[in-house]
Amino acid sequence: MASPASSAPGGVAVVGSGLIGRSWAMLFASAGFKVKLYDIEQQQVTYALDSIRKEMKLLEQSGSLKGSRGAEEQLSLISGCSDIREAVEGALHVQECVPENLELKKQLFAQLDGIVGDQVVLSSSSSCLLPTRLFSGLVHVKQCLVAHPVNPPYYVPLVELVPHPETAPATVDRTYALMRKIGQSPVRLTKEVDGFALNRLQYAIISEAWRLVEEGVVSPGDLDLVMSDGLGMRYAFIGPLETMHLNAEGMLSYCGRYSEGMKRVLKTFGPVPEFSGAAAEKVHQAMCVKVPDDPEHLAARREWRDRCLMRLARLKSQLQPQ
Ligand code: NAI
Repeated sequence: MASPASSAPGGVAVVGSGLIGRSWAMLFASAGFKVKLYDIEQQQVTYALDSIRKEMKLLEQSGSLKGSRGAEEQLSLISGCSDIREAVEGALHVQECVPENLELKKQLFAQLDGIVGDQVVLSSSSSCLLPTRLFSGLVHVKQCLVAHPVNPPYYVPLVELVPHPETAPATVDRTYALMRKIGQSPVRLTKEVDGFALNRLQYAIISEAWRLVEEGVVSPGDLDLVMSDGLGMRYAFIGPLETMHLNAEGMLSYCGRYSEGMKRVLKTFGPVPEFSGAAAEKVHQAMCVKVPDDPEHLAARREWRDRCLMRLARLKSQLQPQ
């Protein structure tokens, strides 16, 4: 496969050219990095390059393309690659984006471990596999970490950086700087924890949402409104801790005023839901009234969501913090 950028040092290799790999490739190119996109399925690379081209053109037309370069220039930075050695040669950063399967990822990192030198960062996009399970025993473990993006990464900038206990601090620092450079918003976890930070918060919310619906306290549609028209309005700009700080005369004032009430309510939370049976049927039916679960309706709703996120991202960039 032709790859004019392939031997340039200092580029990025993206391994796995599915949904997340394509987004990473676009993000790296938007900041001027040469990207080699590798996939075990050669056809998948061809498809990925084609869909990146279409998406970048659409983004350019709508004024939403990231970076200072035009779509053609960014596209010229991304090349497909059918050989993993060639893909990682000269790269300063390898972003793994293969399916969420521990054995598959372990095999891939073992393969990369045998190919790469001491300078490259090996980064996994894993949503929930712990670094100790992915990287333990690798010769280059100091250079490994998880950099977990949020879907769709082009519009949702958060990246969770999760080190293995043996990851060198410089690896995290370098990846943090790289993420900032491509316009993402990295956060550092100092140690691994199941679910990382984002999914632990997300699951806490899903869990209580489910219990409230299962107990008939609120309908599924109204429950979603509590987030989208309530908490979510502020959470797009400030987190739960700053919300506490602002909702009283500072954090200590909030704790003084509300801690007893918070603890009382928290003690009433029920057990972990099963997410199955009659409750799952009820929630499913309610969701299908709003968005039927056939591929066309789901895709249309996802496109609408992504357009909303794009507009929100633009608004956030205009509203710089005071
Ligand atoms: P996907 O299924 O869309 O793409 C995976 C790609 O990897 C496919 O193109 C496949 O051909 C390729 N592949 C499989 N084995 C390979 C190998 N040995 N070497 C090279 N390529 C190989 O998956 P998706 O959604 O892009 O997810 C990738 C990773 O990103 C997963 O770990 C997932 O947990 C994580 N992630 C996914 C998010 C999502 O919402 N889809 C969000 C955040 C992280």
